[in-house]
Amino acid sequence: MTAEIINGKEIAAKKRQEIGKEVEKLKEKGVVPGLAVILVGNNDASRTYVRNKQKACQELGMHSVLIEMPEEVSEEELLAKIDELNHASEIHGILVQLPIPKHIDEKKVIESISPSKDVDGFHPVNIGRMMTGQNAFLPCTPYGIMVLLEETGISPAGKHVVVVGRSNIVGKPVGQLMLNHNATVTYCHSKTKDLKQYTKQADIVVSAVGIANFIKADHIKEGAVVIDVGMNRNEAGKLCGDVDFEEVKEKAGYITPVPKGVGPMTITMLMYNTVKSAAESINR
Ligand code: GUN
Repeated sequence: MTAEIINGKEIAAKKRQEIGKEVEKLKEKGVVPGLAVILVGNNDASRTYVRNKQKACQELGMHSVLIEMPEEVSEEELLAKIDELNHASEIHGILVQLPIPKHIDEKKVIESISPSKDVDGFHPVNIGRMMTGQNAFLPCTPYGIMVLLEETGISPAGKHVVVVGRSNIVGKPVGQLMLNHNATVTYCHSKTKDLKQYTKQADIVVSAVGIANFIKADHIKEGAVVIDVGMNRNEAGKLCGDVDFEEVKEKAGYITPVPKGVGPMTITMLMYNTVKSAAESINR
């Protein structure tokens, strides 16, 4: 079987058009959705991600602010800036680009963002709301994966989903969203013994481990859906996912490529969450 390729770039473009229409409607009501991004230090990858987030805001006619802070900034100064943004009426979303320097307590920073502006969906209040199926900001990459499946006509209901990776940003929440959509979920991670035993049973495999070519054809059941969240560099320095694409695409039913798979959906859902926050601010 040769897999159907899930085109994340195309699906993201369609979603962004819909989001753009929402931005126009909000502008007619006098509200311009605004996102503030805080970048601490000089991590090159973070700088690229932040630039792409700002570009997406501009393309959608949204307001965007970049706050750059030096590597040595104190936790107190960072928290003071977040507090200021929590109270700024033109800002509907606040995002602190991770990772942040080790001398700053990441959990404290995340918890200082108002849950009503936490468009990353990382605040424990939003995580709790997500777990209990309440209105919440959903974390962007997991949410983007759910939209990719929905747009491809794949329902997780009744399926066995195997998540490989247990990060707070991707692995844990994507499993929870799959469960919310009535999947049976298995979490695997670096301490799992005999990973293949689990992945070979999966109707849907989500890999978020950060190791190039980690998932091979013999990990996968014939016809399975394979979602690759990896953003790795291979020996030649080329961007690649966790999945050995050439091998796995001959066995899977559906597969997301890297690039142009999950990646474009992350920023799209960030824009979605910011617009949602702006819309909700009208009724507060
Ligand atoms: N670093 C890597 N991914 C993310 C993300 O989705 N949000 C934030 N804030 N930082 C990140």
